[in-house]
Amino acid sequence: MPLGCDDLKFKEVYLEINPEVKEALYPILQAEDLGGWNWVEKGSRLGCLFYLPANREWREKCERIKEKVEGLQEFDLEPGPVFYSARDINSCSWEKLIKEAGEPRQVLEGFWVIPPDYLKAKIPQGMFIKLRGGMAFGTGDHPSTRLALGLIRDWLRNYDKILDLGTGSGILAIVSAKLGAKEVTGIDNDPEAVSLARENVKLNKFEDRVEIKEGDLIKGLKGPYSGVIINILYPQIVSILPELDKITEKKAGLVLSGILFKQLPQLREKIALSPWEIIDTRVEGDWTGLYLEKKG
Ligand SMILES: C[S@@+](CC[C@H](N)C(=O)[O-])C[C@H]1O[C@@H](n2cnc3c(N)ncnc32)[C@H](O)[C@@H]1O
Repeated sequence: MPLGCDDLKFKEVYLEINPEVKEALYPILQAEDLGGWNWVEKGSRLGCLFYLPANREWREKCERIKEKVEGLQEFDLEPGPVFYSARDINSCSWEKLIKEAGEPRQVLEGFWVIPPDYLKAKIPQGMFIKLRGGMAFGTGDHPSTRLALGLIRDWLRNYDKILDLGTGSGILAIVSAKLGAKEVTGIDNDPEAVSLARENVKLNKFEDRVEIKEGDLIKGLKGPYSGVIINILYPQIVSILPELDKITEKKAGLVLSGILFKQLPQLREKIALSPWEIIDTRVEGDWTGLYLEKKG
């Protein structure tokens, strides 16, 4: 006899964290092979709903997730009090909820991230980026990625040669190619990010135009690049700012993200001493993104 909806039991788990660690939770959940999850806004906190088979392992998994989230403090992130609760649910509701979690997400107006196996014929209008999840940063949900996406869309169209430093999942490199860049190089120092970004480049069929390499910032790169995208932490941005001149063309464009709003005055002072000029400044929450051009 086929199994009915009520024959398979699942646990619906509600995990509560500080919203600041949302992006860091993705790789933790993906490492536990969760097919999907839903976010629930809860005042100043963030809830995450996910589903696990109600076998002997569900509690172990939850404890592991809780421990990893609490461990984010080591990376200067503040998860706040982390707790979870669980309730029983039947398999039919679980399938429906998971399916909803795997739907395309609009990460910025006109930019949709879709799961790799999404086959629905009727898809919303806009630009689609197929992304496989993994341990790498770059699901498109973080404000610094969204700021970079908007700046690339508005300033870096049809560039010849783009460099994406700290490519993570490869999202910004792929978008650059979609926006007409002829040649894109994505660099990351994390081997897992490199292999995931390569896979995502393939999924989006850009192997002919996007190359992903393992590397440390601009070490060993010659260019010259007509556009550079950097979404890394502020100290790294500052450390390579004086070097960017050497690997970029005259009048090159530069997108900087990953800058906290409070770091902007300091960064402006450093930019004023460089060959770059700020053309566009955007803010989302605590984060800032900049578009700069090389002074002629
Ligand atoms: C904030 S994430 C950005 C990911 C993606 N570009 C995005 O916008 O969503 C920064 C990335 O930079 C990488 N990274 C950190 N230090 C690096 C370095 N010294 N050289 C190259 N990549 C680095 C990290 O591994 C991470 O994937």
